[in-house]
Amino acid sequence: MTNFEFYNPVKIIFGQGKIADISTEIPKDAKILITYGGGSIKRNGVYNQVISALKGYHITEFGGIEPNPKYENLMKAVEIVKEKNIDFLLAVGGGSVIDGTKFIAAAAPFNGDPWDIIVNPKDAPITKAIPLASVLTLSATGSEMNSGAVISRKSTNEKYSFGSPLLFPKFSVLDPTVTYSLPVNQVANGVVDAFVHVIEQYLTYPVKAYVQDRWAEGIMQTLIEIGPQTLANPMNYDIRANLMWSSTMALNGIISAGVPTDWATHTIGHELTAFFGLDHAVTLAIILPSLLRETKSEKKQKLVQYGLRVWGIKVGNEDRKIEEAIDKTEKFFQSMGLKTKLSDYGITKEQVLPIIERFKQRKWKLGEMGTITPERVETILLNAM
Ligand code: NZQ
Ligand code: ZN
Repeated sequence: MTNFEFYNPVKIIFGQGKIADISTEIPKDAKILITYGGGSIKRNGVYNQVISALKGYHITEFGGIEPNPKYENLMKAVEIVKEKNIDFLLAVGGGSVIDGTKFIAAAAPFNGDPWDIIVNPKDAPITKAIPLASVLTLSATGSEMNSGAVISRKSTNEKYSFGSPLLFPKFSVLDPTVTYSLPVNQVANGVVDAFVHVIEQYLTYPVKAYVQDRWAEGIMQTLIEIGPQTLANPMNYDIRANLMWSSTMALNGIISAGVPTDWATHTIGHELTAFFGLDHAVTLAIILPSLLRETKSEKKQKLVQYGLRVWGIKVGNEDRKIEEAIDKTEKFFQSMGLKTKLSDYGITKEQVLPIIERFKQRKWKLGEMGTITPERVETILLNAM
């Protein structure tokens, strides 16, 4: 196990009816900005629950945060925060709303060009942030219990992650019943996103981190078990509760403490969203199988372990076991209704060339060992056609 520090101050308030408790967590004199997305919270009753829990508070609202939240739009909220001296942000929504709110929290008190917080963090470190909290409505990203966010810039087709310990939510309410209203494809996206988060922190090389490995394997086994069930029984509380807790645990720092991490699938996937607008999880379902096939020699030992412990693959030589583990992973994504090839979304080789060019210009070396060169990104993308 490698050396690590672990810090996670997010208070989780879990269970049916728990939105009612938020007023005990927010100072009575707070000037709150409630942030939300395209309106699902108004249709499913979550908005009303939040407003009635915050009776007596000074509230301003900012709706319209879009999936894959855009810098250009979020800057409008930054202006409102400054104008109205907002001192508490409450994000009510999925990962996009929470991530967007993290950006607002950091950008409002920042002196300088807020885009630098994202693209130039060494020269523009976050030293102050407005306190934020969340009411989660979609199980997927883990943003409710981590300090990271992913922001897109429309004008340049860019999508990057950033973060700061100042951006951990003060608390997050996880009421599984608010996810009953999700469209099936968003539930499936959530299962796949959480699964790939675990893979990015597990499927690297062994460092004798026995407990982290088994936590990771336990989360993946749970997602494989409940994924299809939650599509078939959307209002089953126990299944939704387990999905919610699995996706939170998949990216709150616990399973990544003391182990190498990869994140190449996410980095490549972000470009597919930036260029083609594909849902985040869809990009992961396309890239991961191709990336595992390309990097199977580096990941050999963990792939065999993954095959055995997560999929029960015992028979065959190492190569055969690895092929089977990757095939089973791809079939799992397909069984959740996600397609796993770029051509399934009508994307052609010519269209991905600008992405390959972008990686070549950046000269980034991705993966847990820095062995995924731009040339290998090209192979991964072309093999995902
Ligand atoms: O906008 P509204 O009306 O709320 O509708 C949303 C949106 O259309 C809808 N929705 C959310 N909760 C609902 C609901 N519809 C009905 N009932 C509900 N209860 O679902 C749609 C998708 O929402 P979004 O927030 O975009 O989805 P998700 O939670 O998957 O977030 C995706 C974003 O998170 C980033 C992704 O890159 C992407 O931008 N990620 C953030 C991470 C983090 N902060 O740690 C890690 C992840 O890897 C990921 O990159
Ligand atoms: Zn993700």
